[in-house]
Amino acid sequence: MIELEEKLKKRTLVCAVVGLGYVGLPLLLYLSKLGFRTIGIDKNKKKVAKLTSNKLDFLKNNKTAQILLKSYTKNKKHTISNNFKDLKDADLIFISVDTPIQKNRKPDNTNISQVCEKLAKHLKKNSIIIIESTLAPKTTQEIAIPALEKSSNLKINKDFYIAVCSERIRPNQDIFKDLTTFPRVLGTSSTKINNLVISIYKLITKGEVDAVDIVTAEIVKTTENALRDVKIAFANEISKICDSLGSSAWEVARLINKRYGYTEMLQPGIGVGGHCLPKDPWLLLSSNNHTKNSLIAQARRVNDSMPAYCAKRIAKILRESSVKNPKVLILGYSYIENCEDTRNSPSQSLVDNFKKQGVKKIAIHDPYIEECSGDLYKKAKGADCLVLAVKHDQFKNLNLLKIKKIMRTPVIFDCKNFFGKEKCQNLSFIYHAIGAL
Ligand SMILES: NC(=O)c1ccc[n+]([C@@H]2O[C@H](COP(=O)([O-])OP(=O)(O)OC[C@H]3O[C@@H](n4cnc5c(N)ncnc54)[C@H](O)[C@@H]3O)[C@@H](O)[C@H]2O)c1
Repeated sequence: MIELEEKLKKRTLVCAVVGLGYVGLPLLLYLSKLGFRTIGIDKNKKKVAKLTSNKLDFLKNNKTAQILLKSYTKNKKHTISNNFKDLKDADLIFISVDTPIQKNRKPDNTNISQVCEKLAKHLKKNSIIIIESTLAPKTTQEIAIPALEKSSNLKINKDFYIAVCSERIRPNQDIFKDLTTFPRVLGTSSTKINNLVISIYKLITKGEVDAVDIVTAEIVKTTENALRDVKIAFANEISKICDSLGSSAWEVARLINKRYGYTEMLQPGIGVGGHCLPKDPWLLLSSNNHTKNSLIAQARRVNDSMPAYCAKRIAKILRESSVKNPKVLILGYSYIENCEDTRNSPSQSLVDNFKKQGVKKIAIHDPYIEECSGDLYKKAKGADCLVLAVKHDQFKNLNLLKIKKIMRTPVIFDCKNFFGKEKCQNLSFIYHAIGAL
């Protein structure tokens, strides 16, 4: 450890990041900014080619990422490649590959296993592997460590070390701010490496770094996302109750949140998307055989049911307004506001559910997604329902009056209470919303 500590002091540590997505790329760029020689590895050859020629097809609106990538590619000491051989000099190897679930909702550990097997062949003695990907509890012990030991012929805690420090960034926020301010929970294979790894994270973030055992670190990450999912599901369930009683879930939440000491009630919506929240609760549950009556599993189902619930309600509203062959215009196709990430977007599921409801004319507008951008007002022509699915800031400036004049039937279905009932009704729209009749 002394050698690595010396290298850290002199900033001569060589840091590698495997998996250059929303998590890995900002980390790689920030490590290079800190002065370390860095190596970025990704299996996606197209991505590697784009990054090496300074092109970002995600984080497109992030100026810091653009600036850092430019100086990264200019500096000959850094590498971006798909060749694991380039890891031969790495002292620290961060892993940030995607960790999805299978159709049966069990963890799909293909990426994490492959990376461990491949990097093991180039592992230096005394190096440290830090897994930033979110893993089901016990994956490090049962999958990562055996794969590393088998392919390297090296022994954990003797020849190399491992740590788990799951990332917490949010793709629709300033990722570099999250990266450099959020607290981290670090699990290590041996307390021998705690000081060194904590020192590295102290260079990255102003947030606290708490060191625990590996399984606890894995549980913390999956549990924090499961907790959020459960809270959203609660708000969604209340919104369905309010819909059936003709009351507003938004007003109910506002009044509950006034009470001192009560945990804030979240807002309902069209569902939950992104790479993490729809799968992390299942990663957590995969380590438990008692999921039959699981609250966490039921919350997943409640959130997954929201696009179908909305499509059904909208189809009913249009039928009751005697609209024949309806056309809907969906505003927002990313999974969350103000970003281009469409992974597991509830809007995709909304489209599928509209088709099931017999709604065939579906237009989509999303200024963050190239294929869905263009002239909104043209898309609104002849529409019978404007569905606000994602509350992008840019939608605040829409000319609703102009849109209303172009539409065939002036119905608004507001999944985020974004436009507001009063404003829409003043413009003579027929206004509906989740949890707010
Ligand atoms: N996106 C988020 O907001 C976020 C936040 C916190 C944690 N996480 C977790 O971080 C991890 C990464 O998420 P992401 O959003 O960055 O994923 P991503 O899909 O954006 O990036 C993953 C990258 O890993 C690469 N990859 C996959 N398998 C590989 C392999 N065998 N060898 C080399 N490269 C490989 C992919 O090509 C891709 O570029 C996941 O475990 C996720 O749950 C994500």
